[in-house]
Amino acid sequence: MKTPIIAPSILAADFANIQREVEMLNASEAGWIHLDVMDGVFVPNISFGLPVCKAIHRYAKKPLDVHLMIEKPENYVEAFKNAGAGIISVHYEACPHLHRNLQQLKDLGVQAGVAINPHTRVNLLRDVIHQIDLVCLMSVNPGFGGQTFIKSTYEKVQALRSIIDNAGAGTKIEVDGGITIENAKPLLEAGADVLVAGSFVFRSENPIDTISNLKNV
Ligand code: DX5
Ligand code: ZN
Repeated sequence: MKTPIIAPSILAADFANIQREVEMLNASEAGWIHLDVMDGVFVPNISFGLPVCKAIHRYAKKPLDVHLMIEKPENYVEAFKNAGAGIISVHYEACPHLHRNLQQLKDLGVQAGVAINPHTRVNLLRDVIHQIDLVCLMSVNPGFGGQTFIKSTYEKVQALRSIIDNAGAGTKIEVDGGITIENAKPLLEAGADVLVAGSFVFRSENPIDTISNLKNV
């Protein structure tokens, strides 16, 4: 089992103290900082956008992993790159021309991610897998932090691992939603590379220790 990248989701952080929260993540074993951008259209919730991304980037010493839960992401990806994003994931369900979206991300020089909802089959990514640096498998329905992990995700991780390995691609598998110390290990055994954790990290007594525990599970 390899050591995962832990990507704490800033959605669960204290926004009144964002500098302190980012500095805590800088001092932790977190590999990336996950930013959940929601538009109130693609998902039934609004979170934050470019100014918050820029503010986090001012203090962050780790790559910003931006998860766009928005319609028409092609209109915003360049602005997010300029706001400090290192990895940008667009949603499969929001991109009728996904191949073009991936090309746009590559041309911008960011890592190209695709997020898929719990009902979306991993097979649908087979023909573009070489264009994808990161698949963000949603293990809850996107829109809110603090939800319960959907157990069918384990099988999706395994199936996606086979697709990636059979294609000889270098795509990373990220799992996002309801991550805890209990599901972290089976997810890594199934083939996940990156674990996003919001509530489990920020609602714990010692987030630095919690991040370390997830990384060394
Ligand atoms: C859900 C987001 C997740 C979420 C993770 O729409 O994509 O990143 O904030 O939060 P927890 O770990 O609380 O499920
Ligand atoms: Zn997310």
